[in-house]
Amino acid sequence: VIAAAGSGERLGAGGPKAFVEVAGRPLLAWSLAAFDAAASVGAIVVVAPPGEEKRIGDLAAEAGIEGIVAPGGEHRSKSVANGLLHVDTELVVVHDAARPLVAPTLIDEVVMRLQGDGGVAGVIAAAPVADTIKEASLSRRVLRTPERSRLWGAQTPQVFRTGILRQALSAHAGELEFATDDASLVERFGGEVLIHEAPQQTIKVTTPRVLRVAELLLAGRSSTELD
Ligand code: CTP
Ligand code: MG
Repeated sequence: VIAAAGSGERLGAGGPKAFVEVAGRPLLAWSLAAFDAAASVGAIVVVAPPGEEKRIGDLAAEAGIEGIVAPGGEHRSKSVANGLLHVDTELVVVHDAARPLVAPTLIDEVVMRLQGDGGVAGVIAAAPVADTIKEASLSRRVLRTPERSRLWGAQTPQVFRTGILRQALSAHAGELEFATDDASLVERFGGEVLIHEAPQQTIKVTTPRVLRVAELLLAGRSSTELD
């Protein structure tokens, strides 16, 4: 399930982020190509910005990729829940279209890690944090400095046992707007989640400045890498 239904407020491109051109392709096309090339992925569901379902379908078709298109929800987690309605496999990989640098190998690695551990509910790509992280009050008074060596920045792809993710989403249906990733819902539901260390460069495109960094990193990627 590729979540691509966001409006891209912070990028400020005047339209949904999924269509913004990055290094010669629409942002979403990079993730689509990576999922298409991943051996562990059987089918792709793209969650589209409301009213843009046809344009998303056309974008996938132009890239030669067959995908199911689902309508987006008000919040990211609602979009993921909408996408899940089209999933009938035992495992599901959730990915943010905002991370165009995802590699097919990373997708396959998280999936294999979950397949290899029957007692685990999910495996997420994450990178060690470089900054010292402070927890602060609303008035920005520092409360705590957690030990950095144990802190990870959660990314996507995140792979789950489909049934557990479904249950976690419905158990927390009233608080979906506060969930910044899917694993947090699964964790609160009691599911065990493992970290798979991702390369640092799977950055999330949020602002115009990060978009330029992503362009530089993607331009350096060989066009055959995803084929
Ligand atoms: N997303 C989604 N449905 C929503 C909101 C977000 O599918 N209702 C997706 C986005 O398309 C993106 C991912 O979730 O791929 C991460 O969200 P974010 O980077 O915040 O993207 P936007 O919400 O589009 O950007 P902004 O917050 O700046 O508006
Ligand atoms: Mg957002």
